[in-house]
Amino acid sequence: MKTENLHEEYPFTGGPLNSLRLVNELPPKLPNPATASVAVIGLGYVGLPLICGFSENSRSIGFDVNGKKVDELKNGIDHTGEVTATELLSADAKFTTDPADLGLADVIIVCVPTPVNSRNRPDYSALLAASRSIGRNMKKGAVVIFESTVDPGTTEDRCLPLIEEASGMREGIDFYLGYSPERINPADRTRRLADIKKIVAGSSPYVTDFLVGLYSRVVKVGLFPAASIKVAEAAKILENTQRDLNIALMNQLMTLYDKMGIRSTDVIAAASSKWNFHHYRPGLVGGHCIAVDPYYLIDAGRRHGLSMDLVVAARSVNEATPYFLVEKLEELFEQNEQSIQNKRILVLGRTFKEDCPDTRNSKTFKMMDYLWSRGAEVFNFDPIAEDDHFEGGRGTHFIGDPQEQGQFDAVIVTLGHTVFREQFDLDTLASVTKKHAPMIDMRGMYDTGHVEDHFTYWRP
Ligand SMILES: NC(=O)c1ccc[n+]([C@@H]2O[C@H](COP(=O)([O-])OP(=O)(O)OC[C@H]3O[C@@H](n4cnc5c(N)ncnc54)[C@H](O)[C@@H]3O)[C@@H](O)[C@H]2O)c1
Repeated sequence: MKTENLHEEYPFTGGPLNSLRLVNELPPKLPNPATASVAVIGLGYVGLPLICGFSENSRSIGFDVNGKKVDELKNGIDHTGEVTATELLSADAKFTTDPADLGLADVIIVCVPTPVNSRNRPDYSALLAASRSIGRNMKKGAVVIFESTVDPGTTEDRCLPLIEEASGMREGIDFYLGYSPERINPADRTRRLADIKKIVAGSSPYVTDFLVGLYSRVVKVGLFPAASIKVAEAAKILENTQRDLNIALMNQLMTLYDKMGIRSTDVIAAASSKWNFHHYRPGLVGGHCIAVDPYYLIDAGRRHGLSMDLVVAARSVNEATPYFLVEKLEELFEQNEQSIQNKRILVLGRTFKEDCPDTRNSKTFKMMDYLWSRGAEVFNFDPIAEDDHFEGGRGTHFIGDPQEQGQFDAVIVTLGHTVFREQFDLDTLASVTKKHAPMIDMRGMYDTGHVEDHFTYWRP
């Protein structure tokens, strides 16, 4: 099989889909990418924007196993904050819990979670269940595209056999396979689905060509055809692992510079004045991407007899950051000749990321558990956090208004939600805390010049 231009970047402009041409072979019969009907499996942070986008050209199907979520979406309610009620209600989409509806679609896109289990091992259960559902229900000629983040080889070696087994059909003859990693950045209002270049890869150049045409319906800044499905899978894992490693470096330097009596964010600001310095900041690395995907790579390394030492080290540095913050708070108490025992600690922030309601795998839970185990009484305030997802926080009081809880002995600000900036200025925070209360401010939000008049203040 000969191909042309396979590695070239392809800023799709709506022209003919012939940049990736198979020579001496007739194209298999693929749907028309401009009008193909799309079903999305998994209606979360990734799936919802996709279904809203694709429904602009053809009626779409949104399938999820979570009946409550499907009912809410039918009523225009989205808890991820990624699409508006207007977008949701005006989308030409059928939201369903019936997998048989997948049989109506020309294209099926899989956006189910790929988390890790309690031992930080990949959990493919949702992905494999979705593959079986597809196999049992898809129509002949369908194109199946995986978007969930996986380690290289998963789509072809684990998902495809299940689809073929359940359907009795063969890929490349009866249906087609593709992969396109999702790069959305939740809570980012400037870089949305349409504004982020997307990697696409099919099981053959024709399928890649089809993916370019299909995704150009929703992505307006160009597509990047990868050399293969495995390359596309690996690229996504690389992006997130690179980020994890860089943040781990900042977290490790935060601990060293702290011992030296300098602030790592001051150091980063100075170093950033060089043109080729990469700007990262220390913090709690949580969520279901950066703090998870490197474990998929570590697991892949294990299967290939490699220990992936650098990736493992970065993970352990980032996993240790919640403990460092608690120990730092204890140190601040000691400076005031106090101990953390029985102290009332206000923790501002619970989600894993600024201005994003997602609390999954948020390391703030781990930090609050540790505070509690050190004898503190913990009060957590996060007005934008999902209110039905808790991964720890033993003994923590999840409060609705810090101003109704009496005086606190210390504050930890884990991240800088806009709502904190707007509604919790320094004076407000001082009014609910005792004089000289220790404050750890991970985003430097309260470093306004006179913060030390009231607080025993620390920022990285
Ligand atoms: N959220 C992000 O920022 C982001 C960015 C890039 C990539 N990703 C990747 O995209 C994938 C999806 O992430 P997400 O954040 O959208 O997850 P999510 O948890 O927000 O949504 C996933 C949805 O899939 C549903 N689901 C689970 N199993 C199912 C099944 N067998 N059949 C049908 N539906 C099922 C769940 O009910 C849920 O509604 C993951 O692999 C993630 O790593 C996420």
